[in-house]
Amino acid sequence: MGLFTPNGRNGRGGGLFHKLTHGFTASIFEGECIANYGESRGVGIRIENLHKSFNGNHVLRGIDLEILPGEIFSIIGPSGTGKSVLLKHIVRLERPDSGRILIDGNDILEPPRPEARDYRYSMVFQSSALFNSLSVGENVGLWLREKRICNEGRIRRIIRDKLRLVGLEGKEELRTSELSGGMRKRVAIARSLAMNPDLLLYDEPTAELDPVTSDELARVIMNLRAKVDLTTIIVSHDLNFALYVSDRVAMINEQGIVEIGTPSQIKASQNPVVRNFIYTTTKGIKGEE
Ligand SMILES: Nc1ncnc2c1ncn2[C@@H]1O[C@H](COP(=O)(O)OP(=O)(O)O)[C@@H](O)[C@H]1O
Ligand SMILES: [Mg+2]
Repeated sequence: MGLFTPNGRNGRGGGLFHKLTHGFTASIFEGECIANYGESRGVGIRIENLHKSFNGNHVLRGIDLEILPGEIFSIIGPSGTGKSVLLKHIVRLERPDSGRILIDGNDILEPPRPEARDYRYSMVFQSSALFNSLSVGENVGLWLREKRICNEGRIRRIIRDKLRLVGLEGKEELRTSELSGGMRKRVAIARSLAMNPDLLLYDEPTAELDPVTSDELARVIMNLRAKVDLTTIIVSHDLNFALYVSDRVAMINEQGIVEIGTPSQIKASQNPVVRNFIYTTTKGIKGEE
């Protein structure tokens, strides 16, 4: 599904997972939603000297990164360089061999400090992973209904609001199987937004999109950041897309991080590895230098 709340705890009043695993009664629905469904706030992320090998294949070789609260941060590089593996570490689908990841100062593999605020995160997978037997609205509301986060009236309003945020207002009844690739991606984003994530991660968001729908997606991602307080991490080999949407970009290759900077700093970089990646990605134009 790509929807997560870490640690089974809830800094805003009460242990959602405790309630889910131990059952809860109607009294929790006194309000429209149980306590965990609050406003989002972008989290800060710090990755320190992260190493990961698979059977002797040393994929992550000492990654250091700092991502600021509210930032749109892209990690770009050729395929096979560990971008997806890095993303999986941030959402705890992989464990590092060494090094650590801090979110708002808390090591994500350590028990949370009592005063730590909880955060919610959600990943938009490359495949979109929608349920074709369900309508657009049902896909977006799936997590809320399954976990019984809110009452039905509130869920309908949340679905409407999230669809509006991705430019699909009023499309609740459409069948998912009738959608174009770009629309599927936007439904997948709306579904991730249903939980009000503080951190939203995208793995290769433009992989199956043509240039026009990639542009639309870029606008959706930027519009979201303007309207919602969240931190965005994008992993992509699509350099143009990353330069267009990001506040900052980190370029990685087999050796590790090559360069970190704003899109204009990356474009102006004199680092031969960066220049070569830009050249091979954009190819240049025949006849021009
Ligand atoms: N679960 C795994 N087991 C073994 N090898 C893996 C696993 N996940 C990724 N790898 C390897 O790690 C390397 C980086 O993979 P990946 O992060 O998917 O690259 P990217 O996303 O940059 O294209 C590849 O060589 C891949 O085969
Ligand atoms: Mg990948």
